[in-house]
Amino acid sequence: MSNDRFWRAISIDSISSELFPRVALYLKSGSNYVLYKDPDRMFSAEDHHRLERNSSRFLYVRSGDVDSINEFMENSLAEMLARDDLSSTAKSRILYQTSVNCVIDIFESPEPTSNLVRCRNMVRHILQYVSSDPHAMVSVQKVIDTGFYLFTHTVQVAALTLLVNSELFKLAHDEMIDVGIGCLLHDYGMTFITNEVLEKNDALSDIEYWKVKQHTQKGYEYLKQSGHYGEIVLNIVRYHHERYDGNGYPTGLKGDDIPRSGQVAALCDVYSALIMDRPQRKANSHADAIKIMREEAKSGAFKLELFNNFVEIIHKRNPS
Ligand SMILES: [Fe+2]
Repeated sequence: MSNDRFWRAISIDSISSELFPRVALYLKSGSNYVLYKDPDRMFSAEDHHRLERNSSRFLYVRSGDVDSINEFMENSLAEMLARDDLSSTAKSRILYQTSVNCVIDIFESPEPTSNLVRCRNMVRHILQYVSSDPHAMVSVQKVIDTGFYLFTHTVQVAALTLLVNSELFKLAHDEMIDVGIGCLLHDYGMTFITNEVLEKNDALSDIEYWKVKQHTQKGYEYLKQSGHYGEIVLNIVRYHHERYDGNGYPTGLKGDDIPRSGQVAALCDVYSALIMDRPQRKANSHADAIKIMREEAKSGAFKLELFNNFVEIIHKRNPS
């Protein structure tokens, strides 16, 4: 069977030898999936080394096993993040993979309360992790996996935005959770855009670009009518492409008429996009990303004071 719909990629780095459910794991060979480990055998440290030597970064599970993996990983997440014997990088990988699984599910069905509850829990873990471990942000950046740009980017924007909000503003815990949910869902409207446009490597035509820009308003309208999401979540989804000088979209709001949650998410969204590999260009270094954003801030795209605070926070976590 080779239909990708039936398979879910799992980053090998997130598979911990003794903390992973007993499911069959597969390797992808061309368009086929080949059994790597049957459910009865434990995934061992030797497996890690072997796969690393072969430069394999992912194993695949049948989509029918995804629920039990998610349940297992989400239930053991707090325990794993609290362990002293795991490095920041290992914790980031586990948190990243678990978050991505959760985001994929909520993108597929944003209505069921169970998915929202899972995402809330995930945001709590991300928040706790980025605010307690000074190496967290650098580690999260290291595990960025460009094969799943949308979901990876989404988790990174959530981690960054939570960090910036926690350092700059005194938000209530529930508001922070909504900030995290809003960031995990900020590009939800992309699900309304055809793959043909999303996967295009060449420059977009004017009409295609117009369609992509619709993701903010479409995501907002869809999530609003579902009735599950509050104002902070909806503001982030709708306003994360607005610019301080009014040159953003979808509404062209200007200055502090743009809700603060949208302004912070916009900075983190741009920064995250710049430091990741894209089909059209290689990732920028942290320093180059800040340089590009500083030019944009000077010409009015971001509120200068907020931008300077953002840079200070990001510099602290990226000493290089
Ligand atoms: Fe977006």
